[in-house]
Amino acid sequence: MTGEASTRASERETDVLVVGAGIAGLSAALAADRAGADVVLATKAERPESASTWWAQGGIAVTRDDPEQFKQDVLAASAETADPQAIDVLVEDADRAVQDILVDTLDIEFDTNGDGEYDYGQEAAHEDPRILHVNAETGKHVHVPFLNYVADETDVTILEDTAAVELVRHEGRVYGAILEHDGEWAPTFAGSTVLATGGIGALYSLSTNPPDATGDGIAMAALAGADVNDMEYVQFHPTAFDPAAVQGDTEMDADSDVFLISEAVRGEGALLRNADGERFMPAYHDGAELAPRDVVARAVTRERERTGRVFLDVSQIEFESTFPDLAAKCEQAGVDWAEGIPVAPAQHFLCGGIVVDDRGRSSLDGLYAVGECARTGVHGANRLASTSLLEGLVWGLRAGEDAVGNSVDTIEPPELLERDPDLPERFAREKFHRLRQVMDEQVGIERTPDGLRRAQAVLRRLKGEVDAYVRTRTSRSLYELRSAAVVSLLVARAAAANDESVGCHYLVEDELSEPATPETS
Ligand code: SIN
Repeated sequence: MTGEASTRASERETDVLVVGAGIAGLSAALAADRAGADVVLATKAERPESASTWWAQGGIAVTRDDPEQFKQDVLAASAETADPQAIDVLVEDADRAVQDILVDTLDIEFDTNGDGEYDYGQEAAHEDPRILHVNAETGKHVHVPFLNYVADETDVTILEDTAAVELVRHEGRVYGAILEHDGEWAPTFAGSTVLATGGIGALYSLSTNPPDATGDGIAMAALAGADVNDMEYVQFHPTAFDPAAVQGDTEMDADSDVFLISEAVRGEGALLRNADGERFMPAYHDGAELAPRDVVARAVTRERERTGRVFLDVSQIEFESTFPDLAAKCEQAGVDWAEGIPVAPAQHFLCGGIVVDDRGRSSLDGLYAVGECARTGVHGANRLASTSLLEGLVWGLRAGEDAVGNSVDTIEPPELLERDPDLPERFAREKFHRLRQVMDEQVGIERTPDGLRRAQAVLRRLKGEVDAYVRTRTSRSLYELRSAAVVSLLVARAAAANDESVGCHYLVEDELSEPATPETS
């Protein structure tokens, strides 16, 4: 990573502790710093690309001159389930936050057209083009300058390679978190603790998230008793690059080089075709390739099952000049994109998470959550494209401002500091493998009531085994596994409790389900 940064985990006190260094965490840290607070930002990351923000492609939506249409699009994409008041917050803060932080503070040069006007991109379920972008690599162009700015131009103390493993709490109040660095464990006591730990991509074998996305913030908050909601709404992106098509395998796996083929490519006019060369989306939805993301993801899944492969046909657009980075990535992966890019759905975003209000306040005193780990209500059952960076920015700023001013109190930290730091790595690897298998098979794009029951049984057992380890050993990978187990169970439970197919949560009849997996039969 960048700039001057400390790397040692030692006992500390600070006004505001931020956990996570994507756009949401950086925004919270910056806002709290601007308000005069002493801020510590802890991140597991050693490199910028460990944050989901770095991986964002399409861009960041702004209102332009039609906020009401933007609000309607967010609501419609959510299948009318999003919270209108949260949408108002998002849209009404959008342009001011983008101008202040991304343009005026970080000097990000979003793409312009020949007239010097912004080249607003178009993505699925947006009525109008309204997406600011830098090629299709917007995340990286936002994240790196933001990290540099916070490291070099503010008083925020950045602790790299430092994981939060447990919240310090007592009777409904959070006092900070236990941080781990290089096997050392120590509490950081804070007036306010802001979780910005991102999503849950590590729970699935195919994800557009970085591998570090183990749901740590959601797990820590849930274990501390915070309200968590909408966990069944796991969004799958319809067009991740399908490396199996190049390798000749029938299945993709977690180690494959999965990368996103931005929806912006379909926004430009690329078409989806099955292995027989047929354009299939018009038969599934009037919006065709720009139908809501969940609809496209299910259609791609069906056509892959029916015909073997699905390709993105970019022959009618200026692919190489419009998306040079994606063209280069395809070439690196050994694909002649002019022949069609093989694609498959991959886990992309969690719409639910830690329940927060319009200032990012959770149900526990002193605990905030922002970005993907938070459930603001903006997304409801499904998220509109290019609103995640915006949500992280808007709620990060709001939470960072609000978090300033709470007194810093110290209490007796949890006893985990005393434990034996030994962990067989194989245990974590094997359990992660099993967990992903269950999530892929039973808690993926399509779910059955019976599959969800079986998933919960397996995940409960797995969590029990992990908990037994946690009582006697500590290591970062064990805590990541515990987070993944806790969050998987939350997702499976929420999905089982919701018998209505809506947005990202899609139920099919039991008879279509796969036979029981060996561990559950
Ligand atoms: C994309 O570029 O397709 C992803 C945008 C998003 O998920 O918001």
